[in-house]
Amino acid sequence: MSATGTNPGEPATGAKPLLRALGGEAVWPPPMWLMRQAGRYLPEYRAVREQAGGFIALCTNPELAAEVTIQPIRRYGMDGAILFSDILMVPWALGQDLRFAEGEGPVLAPLRDAAGIAALQPSMLRSRAAPIFETVRQTRAMLAAAHPRTALIGFAGSPWTVAAYMVEGHGSRDFHTARGLAFGDPNLFGRLIRTLVESTTDYLLAQIEAGAEAVMLFDSWAGMLPPGQFRRWVIEPTALIVRAVKRAHPAIPVIGFPRLAGPLIGEYVTRTGVNAVAMDTAMDPRFAAQAVPPNVALQGNLDPLALVAGGVALETEARQILAAMRGRPFVFNLGHGIEKITPPEHVAQLVRLVRSGG
Ligand code: CP3
Repeated sequence: MSATGTNPGEPATGAKPLLRALGGEAVWPPPMWLMRQAGRYLPEYRAVREQAGGFIALCTNPELAAEVTIQPIRRYGMDGAILFSDILMVPWALGQDLRFAEGEGPVLAPLRDAAGIAALQPSMLRSRAAPIFETVRQTRAMLAAAHPRTALIGFAGSPWTVAAYMVEGHGSRDFHTARGLAFGDPNLFGRLIRTLVESTTDYLLAQIEAGAEAVMLFDSWAGMLPPGQFRRWVIEPTALIVRAVKRAHPAIPVIGFPRLAGPLIGEYVTRTGVNAVAMDTAMDPRFAAQAVPPNVALQGNLDPLALVAGGVALETEARQILAAMRGRPFVFNLGHGIEKITPPEHVAQLVRLVRSGG
């Protein structure tokens, strides 16, 4: 790919290493970023979080949200900047009550019947989420000015995982109520999933229009469904969103994260049409390399606890992943979000190691 950018010395958009890898090129050393790279392990994040007053206030304050999006780029020069927001901002924008309780995680007004679903307001999504799209716009401008090799990643939760929180009303080890509803009243649950397919598509398109250069779909709770339910509530809705995004923006890569999909990872990739798939910590990268077509990028999958440990444990784990992924399109990342107890200098150690190619 040639550098055709109008600013001398700056690579063209297509030349950003992350976008090349997501486009199917075996870039080496691989581009890298970390899930939840903006967050409480960084003192500069905690300062801005305090200034904002609350998590939702931070997500809906474009200046501050853009600032925390850029913080890990400033510190570590990551190849990807992920929009600072949350997967639950879609239910929030649809009108569901949401708060983030200190030490408790997200709390939503549980949605379990037809009236609750009918009360959601998809037509309000673009206006309520407008500050988030403005964050995308401002972040993209900040990257262009100071970090021209870093690509901006937009994101949303996948319908299954978002619906699981909407129905349950909070985080859970097993999401009993949501899984029970999906089996017990598939028509009702399907109506919620359809609403989320449309809203999530709309939400991602607005992020792309505002400047997101790639988008990621987080399906953190995909792995607790049996195969039939996985196909119905994970693969099918994701495929609809990917198709709609591709129809409008064929050049924007889509990354899927079907956490704990295990042996269904290959079927997930081929049937959804994602450009890249994020591997969770339990996935063997060698298995994924066999199960996923060679033009589809793999992303992952260092255990966040190896990053907490640092030192030799971190080096050994990271090198194994690099060795397994060399020669194919790959993006180095964690297998789940960074832990808040992570020493920031361990992230620096990891960046040096990955940049050396292992
Ligand atoms: O840096 C980034 O990756 C960008 C921002 C981002 C956040 N959440 C910020 C956040 C992203 C991409 C997410 C995704 C997300 N949110 C997922 C999918 C990925 C995963 O980790 O499985 C899920 C399931 C959520 C829902 C959610 N948000 C939970 C369960 C919690 C509470 C637990 C926790 O980790 O704190 C949140 C809160 C949240 N989202 C925080 C951040 C930085 C902490 C809020 C704070 O600062 O108090």
